[in-house]
Amino acid sequence: MLSPLKKPIPLYLTEEQRTGLRLAGKFNAQLMDMLREHVRAGVTTDQLDRLAYEYTIEHGHQPACIGYHGYPKTICTSVNEVVCHGIPNQVELKNGDIVNVDITTIVNGWYGDQSETFMVGEVSAAARRLIQTTFDSLYVGIRACRPGGTVMDIGRAIQFFAQKAGYSVVREYQGHGIGREFHQEPGVPHFPSLTSSRDILRPGTCFTIEPMLNIGGWKTRLDKKDGWTVRTLDGSLSAQFEHTILMTEVGPEILTLTENGPQEGHRF
Ligand code: MF3
Ligand code: CO
Ligand code: CO
Repeated sequence: MLSPLKKPIPLYLTEEQRTGLRLAGKFNAQLMDMLREHVRAGVTTDQLDRLAYEYTIEHGHQPACIGYHGYPKTICTSVNEVVCHGIPNQVELKNGDIVNVDITTIVNGWYGDQSETFMVGEVSAAARRLIQTTFDSLYVGIRACRPGGTVMDIGRAIQFFAQKAGYSVVREYQGHGIGREFHQEPGVPHFPSLTSSRDILRPGTCFTIEPMLNIGGWKTRLDKKDGWTVRTLDGSLSAQFEHTILMTEVGPEILTLTENGPQEGHRF
């Protein structure tokens, strides 16, 4: 007989629900692979936004960001010192820029969310190293989590890794539970915190990991005019990568793996 303290952990997402999320992650990754070919000097972030919108609609799916708390576009494009939530505009990307492209789509009611930071042409050694470390920190976070562990395992590993490389981790924005909602419990801070030490990663939990690393300090400033664009307070470069992760009985499963993008261990 099971003691009352050892109740089997109930499944959070059923197999059928997991299938819904897998399909959403897969489509979202396919969209990222499509956009990847277009990220180069001379392209405006508005052009990338339009491509993403049309591709999503043509495939019968929904862009998640447009109208989300009034957000005006399909994707977020965060250039150089922009940490996240940069709004696509008519400015052309130029040689030496780094740009994070963050895309979220809805497939049959399920959300997929991911981002990559791209190098436009030749970038500085400092920018390349930041991108490498940020990409690696995402995988450090993914490899730190296990079924029955806590959300804090992720933040602790990322913070340790980033700090060792000399970067700061953004604290005001974090990963999140995801499913039939864009943002839900649990919050996934990329540093250790008390609440995350209490959140158990039960099999069937789906969430994002999306570390933002800065060359300078961790503090950010929200653009007062557009109400969205988040920049580093000190103007230093910032990079980010994001995947949607399903915790299964045997470990984390990455739902937003691309076919043509950087894979675990990639050297930029
Ligand atoms: N995709 C972002 C995230 O990773 C959220 C963007 S919200 C928007 O959570 F409204 F700015 F699009
Ligand atoms: Co996210
Ligand atoms: Co995102």
